[in-house]
Amino acid sequence: MPDSRSGEPLERPSSTRSGLYDRFGRRLNYLRISLTDVCNLRCVYCMPEKMQFRPRRELMNDDELFFITRMMVSLGVEKIRLTGGEPTVRPNLVGIVRTIARFPGLRDLAITTNGLLLPQIAEPLARAGLNRVNISLDTLDPEKFRRITRWGDLHAVWAGIEAAEAAGLRPIKINAVVTRGFNEDEVVDLARLTLEREWEVRFIEVMPFGSEADFAQSVVVTSQETRRRIEEALGPLYEIPGHSPNDPARPYRLAGARGSIGFISTVSEPFCAGCNRLRLTADGTLRLCLLRDGELDVLTPLRRGANEEELRARILNAVYAKPWGHGLPEGEVPRLRLMSQIGG
Ligand code: 5AD
Ligand code: SF4
Repeated sequence: MPDSRSGEPLERPSSTRSGLYDRFGRRLNYLRISLTDVCNLRCVYCMPEKMQFRPRRELMNDDELFFITRMMVSLGVEKIRLTGGEPTVRPNLVGIVRTIARFPGLRDLAITTNGLLLPQIAEPLARAGLNRVNISLDTLDPEKFRRITRWGDLHAVWAGIEAAEAAGLRPIKINAVVTRGFNEDEVVDLARLTLEREWEVRFIEVMPFGSEADFAQSVVVTSQETRRRIEEALGPLYEIPGHSPNDPARPYRLAGARGSIGFISTVSEPFCAGCNRLRLTADGTLRLCLLRDGELDVLTPLRRGANEEELRARILNAVYAKPWGHGLPEGEVPRLRLMSQIGG
């Protein structure tokens, strides 16, 4: 839907409700923070094999990260997800979780990871105050896994999922990006996992970003197709009632299953009306929409000595002007950053 949906002014009225609201009345209480753009894998739909990462000095250091995050929580963020790149490769991740988990007002702290390093850190993360993990897993076939991630070892991810469960980081959500020619035929095996396990397996339509956009658009598999494939093999999916409007994945269940199945259909069925998200990139920029390039640099003014009041005002104004939704249906693709540089 175009951004000009409403005639509301872009300038924020001076007296607003407490909390972070945009001009469409959406409450933005969920912040996704990319801790690093670096990853220990190179999934084909995510980044080129010879990916250039940002120099360390351009990224928020721990103190800057805490300052900006604390400010966002005091403004109304209640839920935080740490992402990357791969957040577990960020030095001092456990210390970061321990600090952020204690910010007053925060209700939920989760992480999205490829799972490789979880065997070592799931337990310390849980003790530090992490509530949950989402783990990316696009296939159960070791060869296909290697092809998609370019060198990943499926067994290491499996060990990571088990470590997360053992550490009590539940409910476990599994994210599978479905890509034509790589894993569209794997969705049945992934869905079958929910028969025995209390996991939520979510199938994601691949989204286009920057240099990888053309490739991503050439391999999209719609949720509708994925759902059809699953139902043909495993029987009907039953909708689970009580779906939250902020959750992009409406949950379903196979007959007799312990876990659930979701579809994240960003490309074929945008869910912008229920959007409650903001994103903070590893280099300290507030990204208002995953799929639009409009951003507010917070780190540079902070480094130049801007005071907190000034930064808060800038953030409130930028959030107020959050675009209504993405422009994929009109052919507008974000060019500035890859998913791994935004935080998914
Ligand atoms: N489109 C959709 N999902 C993506 N991910 C990474 N790149 C893309 C993309 N272009 C997924 C990862 C992971 C999560 C952080 O985002 O597989 O599950
Ligand atoms: Fe790394 Fe995740 Fe991107 Fe794969 S999708 S390369 S695991 S950041």
